[in-house]
Amino acid sequence: PVEIRIDDLLSRMTTHEKVMQLNQYTLGNNNNENNVGEVAGELPAELGSVIYYNDNPDLRNAYQRRCMEESRLGIPCIFGYDMIHGFRTIYPISLGQACSWNVPLVERMTSYAAAEGRMSGIDWTFSPMIDVARDPRWGRVSEGYGEDPYANAAFCAATVRGYQGKSLADSTTIAACLKHYVAYGASEAGRDYVYTEVSPQTLWDTYLPPYKAGVDAGALTLMSSFNDISGIPGSANYYTLTEILKNRWKHKGFVVSDWGSIEQLVNQGNAADKKEAGLRAFNSGLEMDMMSHAYDKYLEDLIDEGKVDSVLLDESVRRVLRVKMLLGLFEKPYTGNHPDRFMRPDALSAARQLAAESMVLLKNDSIGILPLNGVGRIAVIGPVAKSSASLQGSWNGRGVYDETVTLYQGILDRFAPEAEIRFAKGSDLDKTTEVELAQAVDTACWADVVILCLGEERRWSGENASRSTIALPEAQLQLAEKIAATGKPVVMLLSSGRPLDLSQMEPLANAIIEVWQPGTAGGAAAADILSGDVNPSGKLAMTFPRSTGQIPIYYNRRGSARRHQGFYQDIPSTPLYPFGHGLSYTTFAYGEPSVSSSTFRKGEKVTVTVPVTNTGSRAGAEAVLWFISDPAASITRPIMELKHFEKRELKPGETTTFKFVIDPVKHLSFPDADGNIILEPGDFKIIVGPHTVNLVME
Ligand code: IFM
Repeated sequence: PVEIRIDDLLSRMTTHEKVMQLNQYTLGNNNNENNVGEVAGELPAELGSVIYYNDNPDLRNAYQRRCMEESRLGIPCIFGYDMIHGFRTIYPISLGQACSWNVPLVERMTSYAAAEGRMSGIDWTFSPMIDVARDPRWGRVSEGYGEDPYANAAFCAATVRGYQGKSLADSTTIAACLKHYVAYGASEAGRDYVYTEVSPQTLWDTYLPPYKAGVDAGALTLMSSFNDISGIPGSANYYTLTEILKNRWKHKGFVVSDWGSIEQLVNQGNAADKKEAGLRAFNSGLEMDMMSHAYDKYLEDLIDEGKVDSVLLDESVRRVLRVKMLLGLFEKPYTGNHPDRFMRPDALSAARQLAAESMVLLKNDSIGILPLNGVGRIAVIGPVAKSSASLQGSWNGRGVYDETVTLYQGILDRFAPEAEIRFAKGSDLDKTTEVELAQAVDTACWADVVILCLGEERRWSGENASRSTIALPEAQLQLAEKIAATGKPVVMLLSSGRPLDLSQMEPLANAIIEVWQPGTAGGAAAADILSGDVNPSGKLAMTFPRSTGQIPIYYNRRGSARRHQGFYQDIPSTPLYPFGHGLSYTTFAYGEPSVSSSTFRKGEKVTVTVPVTNTGSRAGAEAVLWFISDPAASITRPIMELKHFEKRELKPGETTTFKFVIDPVKHLSFPDADGNIILEPGDFKIIVGPHTVNLVME
């Protein structure tokens, strides 16, 4: 029936009405400093979509009423927004979420976010961002799920399920948008918006798999990327937009451009002017124009000139109308009144749990300062201690700073009045004074333990926020040195939107917890970890290098021609903290794995199990990561690749068996440079914890 209704509408629409469905303008107060565009005066009633900068449905309903009542055919508008890690309740940034390895929790969290958004007038979020990223200088690493394609794919599918729920016509679900299609994460040297050198093999190996997972999970839309993909920009790339997405993957929804990415084809040298840019983008399979005003200005002329086929126009409009129908917008164009929609108890408790699970205990040296136990005097020092902005991170939706539990507040709530707590700022994020440093030293000298809260400002990561070095500024290093010199035990809490270069900081702390940008409940979650109320279980989804010069460094690289050579002379070849690193207050022992059959044929599945025991005295959760290795292949493979993971709680002394059911076609195959699946017989290795299991496919 949906297609029949669309046929009927299309048969009654004029070319102008069709073209207007393919444009997205903005409505409300645009709070995004990177994206300021022409203000369009009064919005036309035939418009396809707006980005809705508001959290109150009134403005939406008023404009929607115009679309329904003043446009000739009464086609509803779709309201989109960047709800990246929450809407009003802010959850940890996606990079932090990935470190939780807790897929069901992330799925649940996105469903809460969807409900807050939809009840506020948002039908469509520009999320998840699933750009595999291996250069932490790039600010947008905060928005994705780290350096691994499989992890990005797993979290992508979970977020799509969470946002879109069982039915998009519910008043609590929203359409997802996979972005930025594709290979935006390959930005040269971490500079935003720039050229990306992506071989076809790498496109298929690394950048496309999360998108395939999202399309398979039913994501209704995608956003085309800004970047030039080895000569053909993402917003004018027929191969990715039409050949792969539509012809091969059979995606039925639509693609929206990134902000201005159609007109920016001119800057990239792919079009002489905006009209040609519109022509290229449209004919390559990009359905909706976000704020370039290329389609609204030129598409009708291009059709008249015979450069754009009216069949393609109809097909594009059909895709947009299909999404609107699936969202139930024709039946229910308006948003109801839900005064209690924000910060509901379920959402807040998920925010706290996810924040705690995303935090990574990077270091806890032999003095065993963590978890804090019976400490009388706690000094909370550092520029991030009272900063709610840092904790919310970039793209913090409609988050309210005053509703955020700061690190200082969380510590106060948990440890006072049993412990006495004093605060000293010590420095700003990037400058300090002798007086501030001296006050911090005094406070440290008074205390039994120092919680040193360092890190980044919220705008140091996110869009257009690349940095040439990922070390923290000199002022914070100076502060850390002074505090370390007091000889007091130091626990460093680091809030950042990217992996940091900690080579100078690391020796200055007895314990280090990367708290990321943990959101609304960040301070409470940090206190949960400091106190041991929650045993840390986060593991890094992105490598921490020893220095900026070591970038890019990621675990799933391909082998070097000389195994033990080819590295820098002046630093070790290993990162400071590798992918998967994360400590606990308990210990886990991995027993000998068992395999159902170490020799098998293509069509047969193999099961590998591993018993894991909590050998410590505290309950804790362990994320077991399973890697495969294909040591000899006709196209070289990364030395190891994540293919499965699972996280479970274990009581002290408990043993539980983790399982990986290997389906050769799914887990042991690889793509060629045009995406054909290759499965070659031979030796494979399964790596889990400290063990390697050898398998042979005949
Ligand atoms: O969704 C974003 C995108 O990630 C970056 N440019 C602007 C878009 C809309 O705000």
